[in-house]
Amino acid sequence: MLTEWLTYIAADCPQSARKLGYLRESIAIRSRYRRCKTAWQPHLERSRAALLASLQACDSFRSALVFGSGLLLDVPLDELARRFEKVYLVDVVHLPEVRRAVRRHSNVHCISLDVTGFMQQLDTISPQHLGLPLPERFLDDPDIDWVASVNLLSQLPLLPLDWLSRRFPELDHATLDSWGTRLMRQHLDYLATFAAPTCLLADMEQIVHDSDGKIIERIDFASRLGFDDTTPDQWRWDIAPPGEIAPGIGSFHRVAVYTRS
Ligand SMILES: C[S@@+](CC[C@H](N)C(=O)[O-])C[C@H]1O[C@@H](n2cnc3c(N)ncnc32)[C@H](O)[C@@H]1O
Repeated sequence: MLTEWLTYIAADCPQSARKLGYLRESIAIRSRYRRCKTAWQPHLERSRAALLASLQACDSFRSALVFGSGLLLDVPLDELARRFEKVYLVDVVHLPEVRRAVRRHSNVHCISLDVTGFMQQLDTISPQHLGLPLPERFLDDPDIDWVASVNLLSQLPLLPLDWLSRRFPELDHATLDSWGTRLMRQHLDYLATFAAPTCLLADMEQIVHDSDGKIIERIDFASRLGFDDTTPDQWRWDIAPPGEIAPGIGSFHRVAVYTRS
């Protein structure tokens, strides 16, 4: 608890990201990782391997762009730093230990950015004007030779939806739901705009289950976002082994890899 509090005080993080809860979430992910390290290991290894395998599509290795770099648990940082002239790690929050790890590489840069553009719109967004501008950052950089989005997609709407439903309680569930889907689609469109090879690691579904394996809740991102769900490169991420969320309750995500050359 004390470590978490000290990180909260010390982190170099924009005020709006604190206000929306990104820093709190990032610290919570770190704590959960520490508790669930063994259960997470296969997922982290497969994520890193998938990212490295996708580099085969690259002809040149000037700049790499990693969206959702977070705690760098699933990002093969040393290898990327070795292969590319520059690596940009993009996340709303870069915790102090991430910044320390990055300092070992003079060609790696932490970019604090909300890839949805939501945080920049906090003062103007309203129930009548919920639209967000299309992201443009990095699209004009001709040196980008590889783009990755790493276990980020399903996270994009969570904190913005929390904020919207508190700020505008009149917004109904269906409106919020379709707004969240639009935010994720916009990220996919943004990725598709890059001319470089792209690797997307994303949740196809999230399951909450009881100790007998009976499903209590299921979120189906594959159909919501129109993914081809038959891709062979998929695995289960035991994000919360039974007991982590509540006694007898567990949760896993099914993660898939989509690459574009
Ligand atoms: C599940 S974590 C991904 C794991 C991460 N690659 C790691 O190794 O820790 C999701 C990450 O997405 C980031 N994130 C969530 N919304 C974001 C946004 N709008 N823009 C940029 N990053 C965001 C979070 O801060 C978090 O680090």
